[in-house]
Amino acid sequence: MTVLAGTTRAYDPAMTATRRLSPVDHFLVRSQHAVETVFGRPAAERPNPAGDEADVALDPAERRHAAGLMRINHVGEICAQALYVGQAAVARDPQTRAHLLEAAQEETDHLAWCADRLQELDDRPSLLNPLWYAGSYAIGVAAGLRGDGWNLGFVVETERQVEAHLEEHLQVLPPEDLRSRAILEAMKADEARHADSAEAAGARVLPPPIPTLMALASKVMKPVAYRI
Ligand SMILES: [Fe+2]
Ligand SMILES: [Fe+2]
Repeated sequence: MTVLAGTTRAYDPAMTATRRLSPVDHFLVRSQHAVETVFGRPAAERPNPAGDEADVALDPAERRHAAGLMRINHVGEICAQALYVGQAAVARDPQTRAHLLEAAQEETDHLAWCADRLQELDDRPSLLNPLWYAGSYAIGVAAGLRGDGWNLGFVVETERQVEAHLEEHLQVLPPEDLRSRAILEAMKADEARHADSAEAAGARVLPPPIPTLMALASKVMKPVAYRI
């Protein structure tokens, strides 16, 4: 039985990529990942891109708006964790699985940076995070079961949509919120790289109406996550 206590990373690719785990081990590792992602405080491996950027005082309406946007982004990262771990759980090719888990680790940085910024803005993550995680995990498994080409295609489409969404947020953030801006810019660059590397790894293009349905789902989620 794998020792699960004391894990410092949100999801340890080495643990599942190189060791033979029993189905019970897998279940425990994934459950632990879910609990730590939703209720814990996953740590970033890279420094927060906000760095020394000034934390300019925002008026109450701007602060609430910035916090609403950063809550949406935090939810997006909760979903990214669940999607990638769900997809990796059923990936057939070990290389595809390793690719997904490596990307999940970078998404952990995004998750931690968004959580930090929410705290600085004196606000909280979404109360519906357990629900977002469970739904996204199920979608990740469903996408992964279609095969590795589809799995990677799903990554490409997700990352491209997130990249476009981050650009929108950069347009509507309060201009003086330099710390949120620095985080979103770094995330946007990472998401573009995730899409490029999934494409290079053999992603297939998802047929209609899947990209449209994915865009619709995020359109429904965003106003909810902005508030709750
Ligand atoms: Fe991300
Ligand atoms: Fe990403």
